[in-house]
Amino acid sequence: MLFKAIASSLALAATTLAQTTPAGFTPATNQTLDVYYGSTYISPGLMVKKSSVASKPVIGVTGIEVSGKYLLAMIDIDVQAQGGGSGRTTVLHALLQDYTPSTQKQNGSTVLTTTANTPSSYFGPAPPAENPKHPHNYVFLLHKQPDGFAVPSAHRQAVSSRFGIDWNKFIVDAKLSPPIAGNYLQVQSGDNTLKGRKL
Ligand SMILES: *[C@@H]1O[C@H](CO)[C@@H](O)[C@H](O)[C@H]1NC(C)=O
Ligand SMILES: *[C@@H]1O[C@H](CO)[C@@H](O)[C@H](O)[C@H]1NC(C)=O
Repeated sequence: MLFKAIASSLALAATTLAQTTPAGFTPATNQTLDVYYGSTYISPGLMVKKSSVASKPVIGVTGIEVSGKYLLAMIDIDVQAQGGGSGRTTVLHALLQDYTPSTQKQNGSTVLTTTANTPSSYFGPAPPAENPKHPHNYVFLLHKQPDGFAVPSAHRQAVSSRFGIDWNKFIVDAKLSPPIAGNYLQVQSGDNTLKGRKL
């Protein structure tokens, strides 16, 4: 009985821990998108230095079958709205299409690669200083890419300006299925680390 109770509470803890996107964010995922910045593996929610995430990461998946093309989004969901206020908006840090599974493996992950720099090239996190500090969450989502994918017209402005992307609406308008994997990292507001400097 006692063992059973412990086992079920452990199972509960494991399922609680399983979500790989930030609490409260939708779409949610339980499958980890493997994200590597050099040798740094991003476990969901890991706080990293700005300097270590300046260049596009290697992505992959473990334990799931992948074929065809995939679309990767990386979204900062903690951007202070213009003119202050307590609301937070989004900045699109990357929207990269045509990822396909490669024969390359990293740490057991099947690496996905793309030569595309579009619709939105990667730019690294650089959250401005805030008092009190407010770490920004950067969410990664990997979706199966529909045939003939194009940025829906209602989202072209957000994709080109990078401000205020509404990913749930984008999913509907671009006819994406739910993400197959996700992840997120954090960078502290005001992190001033410089590229190439070891800390
Ligand atoms: C993630 O796992 C939880 C607990 O098992 C479940 O309630 C939820 O629906 C799952 N979410 C997704 C996106 O699969
Ligand atoms: C390899 O992947 C596991 C998760 O699958 C992770 O915990 C570990 O840190 C990774 N190691 C390296 C060296 O990337």
